[in-house]
Amino acid sequence: MTVTGTDFDLRRVAGRIGAEVVGVDLRENLDDDTIASIRAALLEYKALFFRGQKLDDTGQQRFAARFGELTTAHPTVPSLDGSPNVLRVDSAEGRANNWHTDVTFVVSPPSASTLRSIVVPPYGGDTLIANSAAAYRDLPGELRELADRIWAEHTNDYDYAIPPADSEKTKAFREIFVSRKYRTAHPVVRVHPETGERGLFIGGFAQRIVDLSTTESRDILRLLQAYVTRPENTVRWRWAPGDLAFFDNRITQHYAVDDYGDLPRLLHRVTVAGGVPVGADGRRSYTIEGDDASHYTPLAA
Ligand SMILES: [Fe+2]
Repeated sequence: MTVTGTDFDLRRVAGRIGAEVVGVDLRENLDDDTIASIRAALLEYKALFFRGQKLDDTGQQRFAARFGELTTAHPTVPSLDGSPNVLRVDSAEGRANNWHTDVTFVVSPPSASTLRSIVVPPYGGDTLIANSAAAYRDLPGELRELADRIWAEHTNDYDYAIPPADSEKTKAFREIFVSRKYRTAHPVVRVHPETGERGLFIGGFAQRIVDLSTTESRDILRLLQAYVTRPENTVRWRWAPGDLAFFDNRITQHYAVDDYGDLPRLLHRVTVAGGVPVGADGRRSYTIEGDDASHYTPLAA
């Protein structure tokens, strides 16, 4: 699949995932053809990067909304004041140095995430994004067959984004993060609703395999996750202020590298609502504990 007939250039950033989109000003009112080309590029490259944009919160929300209805900021974390769709990703409150896919603990996780850099440290703080379809293809046949059959429980109630022990602010953030508890069963292999591609749909919120013990679950998840995080399956983005990253949350995981000490880092996140995942056998994800998160996503099951 190649994106053609557009006014922008696509430059691969890494071999298996990620392209920089050059020649688009996201403040402009982009026509439908351009949006369709960006969507096609997202499906192919899975993560797109727009350097040096001059977007504000309104502009970020407007751009994301071209790809579908938006979620609110988060199922449990309050939005930025006055911008119900914007989540502050602030290093002072927590560090997502844990491979994950956004909000997979609800039954309808977002289809895509946009991250806009506002304050970036002079060094470090990169974001890694992994191609979970490439990981699936890398699995030996026997493991692929196992993965196709098993399901995982995802929850927000675990030690994600561990706060530094002495930080009251991060402790308070963690309390808010788990103020409502969610547990959802998703297929370990998700069929992408637009491309039909299969990808490993696990990541940090996946805490156990349905019907297996904690120990067995850990070992299997660690084994599968090792394929997702192979360097060959990742791209690494070095932020500059004003960048926008746009990634397909249905077939990627990401990780915020925590290597910048106490330096400030602030990004704003806006996510596009997504549907209920479907596994290789056609079964849909289901809720085990918690509400349907309809306060969060317009596509609640
Ligand atoms: Fe994230």
